[in-house]
Amino acid sequence: MKLAKRMDIIPFQRIRKIVEEATRREKQGENIIHLEIGRPDFDTPSHIKEAAIKAISQGKVHYTSNYGITELRNEIAAKFKQDNGLVYDSSDEVIVTVGATEGIFLSMMALLDPGDEVLIPNPSFPCYAQCANMIEAVPVLVPLKQENDFEPVMEDFTSRITSKTKMLIINTPHNPTGAVYSEETLKALAQMAIKNNLFVLSDEIYEKNIYDGYRHFSIASLPGMQERTITVNGFSKSHCMTGWRLGYLASSRELIAGLIRIHQYATVCATSFAQYGAVAALSGSQKAVEEMGKEFNRRRIMMVDRLVKMPGISVFKPKGAFYIFINVEKLGMSSQKLCTYLLDEASIAVVPWGDNHIRLSYANSYENLEKAMDNMAAALKKLT
Ligand SMILES: Cc1ncc(COP(=O)(O)O)c(C=O)c1O
Repeated sequence: MKLAKRMDIIPFQRIRKIVEEATRREKQGENIIHLEIGRPDFDTPSHIKEAAIKAISQGKVHYTSNYGITELRNEIAAKFKQDNGLVYDSSDEVIVTVGATEGIFLSMMALLDPGDEVLIPNPSFPCYAQCANMIEAVPVLVPLKQENDFEPVMEDFTSRITSKTKMLIINTPHNPTGAVYSEETLKALAQMAIKNNLFVLSDEIYEKNIYDGYRHFSIASLPGMQERTITVNGFSKSHCMTGWRLGYLASSRELIAGLIRIHQYATVCATSFAQYGAVAALSGSQKAVEEMGKEFNRRRIMMVDRLVKMPGISVFKPKGAFYIFINVEKLGMSSQKLCTYLLDEASIAVVPWGDNHIRLSYANSYENLEKAMDNMAAALKKLT
């Protein structure tokens, strides 16, 4: 028995390996502080849970429209208008998906042929390259550099465009660096996309996790962009709903007509009662979202303040998301080895990213993060 050939290039997620190793150690009685996790550590706000529970009680447990329930699509269209200045017809330009992850998959599956090239600013959320691999498209990684605040530099993109280039991925606020692309950068990327007739997949899942007065800007709102852009978003990060598996996307009627056919066969629809919870998430109080934002910011400031004083590492001060991206090259140890060292010496789980970087998440309590910083400072001191 043999797996399909495409599986040769699809690895097991690196982050999962770390989680499994940390869990193994915890089972043996070790106390590990988790900084590898890409999910908010807060509970889903109660009014959202209550709406989903009510939906179950009322028997709303059946398949929904493939596009998602009308109430939710209307709320999503209203959200796009209010937050992003984007007008979509909720009847056929919005799809409720099983997480933003499904939105990424649908977009690539419906728009790319085998051999088509996808420009992916890198470092990047691993799902983009692996989704491209799954459908036998070609991920083309375009380097983002710390000296440019991890914002795209146009020549790095234009020099990689070929006759096969068909899609550009944008993710702002950005995982793993915490960069937030400026409006100027997005305008330049939009011009490039129009000139080269590219689809744009704009992953805006960290839209609500933004600090220091930076503003989120949707590339689809620029002239000529809405018809070529699929804007992907979701409830995982904004409303602490990772386990609900609920996201959404919007685009032109023409592109949605393709994406919905993949969605019909891949998942049919998102979970019915979860969708009712999501209606409450968008229509109800946003106080919990604001409170969470304040707490993330408090942690971010403390962590950056501590990390910049540690030896041998270079820290990028994040403007968004809930990660801190650190260059560890000067320590003379691969990022993978360093992660094992930090697990051994500091009892903290962090993620290696490429050969020279690690990513720390601050989705953990302030107290745990303070302890993690104490442990990490002591462990790095031993190395230098
Ligand atoms: C950039 C980015 N996009 C999408 C996702 C996945 O979101 P969802 O839980 O909605 O599938 C993540 C999760 O970590 C992410 O970091």
